[in-house]
Amino acid sequence: MKILGLSGALNHDPSAALLIDGEIVAAAEEERFVRAKHAKDRMPTEAARFCLDYANIAPHDIDVVAFPYAPIGLDTPARWHYAKRHWYAPDRSLDALFNGNRRYRRLRARVIELGRTLGIDWQRTEFVPVEHHLAHASSAYHLSGFRERTAILGVDGKGEYATTFFGWGEAGRIHKIKEFFDPDSIAGVYGAMTEYLGFEMLDGEYKVMGMAPYGDPTKHDLSPLLRRRGGDVRIDTRYVNTIGLRRYKENGVGYYFSRKLVDWLGPRRTDDAIDAPYVDYAAALQKLFEDTCLRLIDEYLGDLLAETGLLAFAGGGALNVKLNQRIVARCDVKELFVQPAAGDAGTSLGAATYVAAARGERLSRMRHAYYGPKYTNDDCVAAVRTCADALAWCVLDDVPRRTAALLAAGHPVAWFQGRMEFGPRALGARSILGCPSVAGIADRINAQIKFRERWRPFCPSVLDRVAPEIVSSTHPAPFMTITFDVADAWRSRIPEVVHRDGTARVQIVERDTNPRYYALLEQLEALTGNAVVLNTSLNRQGEPIVCSPRDALAMFLGSDLRYLVLEDLLVTKRT
Ligand SMILES: [Fe+2]
Repeated sequence: MKILGLSGALNHDPSAALLIDGEIVAAAEEERFVRAKHAKDRMPTEAARFCLDYANIAPHDIDVVAFPYAPIGLDTPARWHYAKRHWYAPDRSLDALFNGNRRYRRLRARVIELGRTLGIDWQRTEFVPVEHHLAHASSAYHLSGFRERTAILGVDGKGEYATTFFGWGEAGRIHKIKEFFDPDSIAGVYGAMTEYLGFEMLDGEYKVMGMAPYGDPTKHDLSPLLRRRGGDVRIDTRYVNTIGLRRYKENGVGYYFSRKLVDWLGPRRTDDAIDAPYVDYAAALQKLFEDTCLRLIDEYLGDLLAETGLLAFAGGGALNVKLNQRIVARCDVKELFVQPAAGDAGTSLGAATYVAAARGERLSRMRHAYYGPKYTNDDCVAAVRTCADALAWCVLDDVPRRTAALLAAGHPVAWFQGRMEFGPRALGARSILGCPSVAGIADRINAQIKFRERWRPFCPSVLDRVAPEIVSSTHPAPFMTITFDVADAWRSRIPEVVHRDGTARVQIVERDTNPRYYALLEQLEALTGNAVVLNTSLNRQGEPIVCSPRDALAMFLGSDLRYLVLEDLLVTKRT
């Protein structure tokens, strides 16, 4: 069966994923093609076209279009909860009760229209809506490869109405235990505070997480933002997760927090400094988020974890790598699986896998994220020739060895190889690399291209055989979705990729999923003694990760980087 998953339900991070007979054939985010970060308010037109082209199938061959947003009935508590909790915005409250699926109908119309644009025959192809949190849950559980009973956690801003999901999976079926509904969203609190701390919601959360280790979480008590009530969490919407007239406004822009929060904590952070009190707020927020999630795991998933120790985690909250470190450290957790596109981009894959599993197809573990476009050397040569005045190039006889030599000599290298990654992390296909034992390499990368805040950590890719020694753990980590404590002996060996708190967001590289990247690490080990490379995404600040050779060259020419390894080509600047 050919199933095309399309996300884009929540006006950000649209993507497409194609499953054929239970196997992921292609998956990509729209932002990479349209070159606009998060591709807000768009549908995944180009991503869907890529999936069909890559698989070389015609649109009318698609059996099912799966969409991660579904109608929610009045016979469930979701809309009633929303209406009751938003009494202070009566128009929204009444809308949830009397017209609560308006957004679904609008989105469905957009998908049908998108299908027509692609050439899908709706007489033949079935449209299947999947509840947003079931799509998230499926993207984690069905791709975890776990065969025993598995606890499932979903922590997300908001889907249709649900914000947080607890459930379990067994024999290819997902069962709900408990959901929280809007506005009672723990991830929503993190998003609102991300706005308060001067970043963009749905983009800057990882910056808050990076800032947190610089602050003292005990200096401020943010617990009034949420209360436990019975088995539920109640967010105090007088402060955060705020809508309507209660929203704080500045220069005509409305925020997801209130004036009352500003009266309590002081003005919103507006500069790049990481000073008190904001850095302490970030620390307190991160701790509140972690502690709350861990307590809820105890409450709703503790029995399941005691039984098998398997946890599949999805939603934007699953990209909180510090929380994931604490989950992995739990004595009742044997293994945590977070698929690389844990945020909304992954719901295309989630909706598709949900439908596949429901129809009896067997899904296997997602072992890598290389499901995007790939390009030949001829494609690369053609692209470089369009910039012949500015660029020189040669074909490398041994790409890993020559690249490792450049890295060991202290140069940052742009690395473009194979199929583009699915999800927000560069994992050795579209990366900027550096040698983490070269003092100042992170600063050099920042000076040459990234221009990002120095307090944000760079992360390492490490060879599988040395990873246990570096992170004192044998837990799988192929996707940079978990941080680990770096062993004392290694902190001084690779200081450029160790965060202030002694942790690193590690990618463990295996030979069979990325042989060339593996060979590069082996070569670097031969030269420096460390099978570790600094790996950051191949993009300029504010832009999506590059997709094509053309994108790579535009990025390269717009930076001070000196070396670009484009498949087998080494590209340099003429000046
Ligand atoms: Fe979501």
